[in-house]
Amino acid sequence: MLESTIVVMNKNPFPLASYSGSESFCGRIAETKQLTDALLNGRNTLLISLRRMGKTSLILHVFGHLHKQNSHKTVYVDIMNTHSVDDFLSKLGTAILNINTSKSKKMLSVVLNYLKSFNPVMTFDSITGVPSVEFKSNSVLQSQQSFDSLLSFLESQPFKVSLAIDEFQQITHYSDKGFEAFLRSKIQHLKNVSFIFSGSQQQLLSEMFSSPSRPFYQSVDYLKLERIPASEYARFILERLKSTGKDMDPSLAMETLEWLDGYTFYVQNFYNKLWFLSGKLIGKHDVEETKRQLLMEREYIYTNLPNLLTPLQYKLIKGIAHETKVEQPNSKQFILKYQLGTASTVNSAIKSLIEKEIIYYEHGGYKIYDVFLWQYLRTSVQ
Ligand SMILES: Nc1ncnc2c1ncn2[C@@H]1O[C@H](COP(=O)(O)OP(=O)(O)OP(=O)(O)O)[C@@H](O)[C@H]1O
Ligand SMILES: [Mg+2]
Repeated sequence: MLESTIVVMNKNPFPLASYSGSESFCGRIAETKQLTDALLNGRNTLLISLRRMGKTSLILHVFGHLHKQNSHKTVYVDIMNTHSVDDFLSKLGTAILNINTSKSKKMLSVVLNYLKSFNPVMTFDSITGVPSVEFKSNSVLQSQQSFDSLLSFLESQPFKVSLAIDEFQQITHYSDKGFEAFLRSKIQHLKNVSFIFSGSQQQLLSEMFSSPSRPFYQSVDYLKLERIPASEYARFILERLKSTGKDMDPSLAMETLEWLDGYTFYVQNFYNKLWFLSGKLIGKHDVEETKRQLLMEREYIYTNLPNLLTPLQYKLIKGIAHETKVEQPNSKQFILKYQLGTASTVNSAIKSLIEKEIIYYEHGGYKIYDVFLWQYLRTSVQ
């Protein structure tokens, strides 16, 4: 009894993994409902946000709910590291092979039967025994037929399927430029399978889904993940701390959320560290020590930034960091204050910093993407 209590007490309530179950997942009630309703009603959704805001966690959270329904199965594929339609098929095929394998091996033989004409290479992980499949098609036609078969397989199952394709913008980089249109033409007829398309390259994704000339035009519901409201986040943090016997003043929690710009990934990182650095009652000193350590650990990378950027780009991000958010970086006032030269050179520096994902534009202003870098630049003298 005592032992199990100690184990619970020692478990960090702010795990860094993408999704560790509903108790370490804060809020997102409306978003969870929207996604679940869409999936249960056969509607497809485009889920977008800034990087690291919580898309994958939300998908896995929603899938966790759907798992409880016997008539529903979920398939999650992250296609970030895929470079061709064959890579895509291998990921999808592997995810489908692993639906329910713990309960029945039947799925494996049925899927294999479906795919046998495409000669996929099957392997089993030597330690876990988890099966995977690899496609090597001879032609575009063959890869399209394999894909068609995978979808017909899902369509013919006695259960409904929710299929999430994470980092969906990646398909625009495949050499088979017709794949986007092919995919759209196939999925629009499915009755048994609903999709979540997700990603953080918002520019690429909005072009795919909102440009009339593109195959996916107006084919989905939209869900944009914003920050979790600070008061809701603070409540969650205090509850998580309490669950391990720790306490903190609510106003101090609100202050930390401001310092972290309420950005999910950074909040989780910060509290993961604060939790193990602190005692039962968390005070200002613990918070300051956590900030200090987090910035110090990253100093090595951040001090190298001037070597990776032009002097103007570096001055520009320092200016943006000092202001927190800048509506018009090419305005006379901002240029003069931070000695940035001309409006046109600022414009091209902004474009390049967005491409490098060092800054982003949202809600009428430019901000630094990495919250810890923002805080580092605000306080550094360099
Ligand atoms: N609702 C939430 N409550 C608590 N922590 C969360 C929540 N959503 C996300 N996180 C935390 O934020 C981090 C980033 O989340 P996640 O990986 O889901 O974001 P993402 O938008 O998919 O990122 P990427 O753009 O890199 O794919 C994770 O470490 C996760 O623990
Ligand atoms: Mg993700």
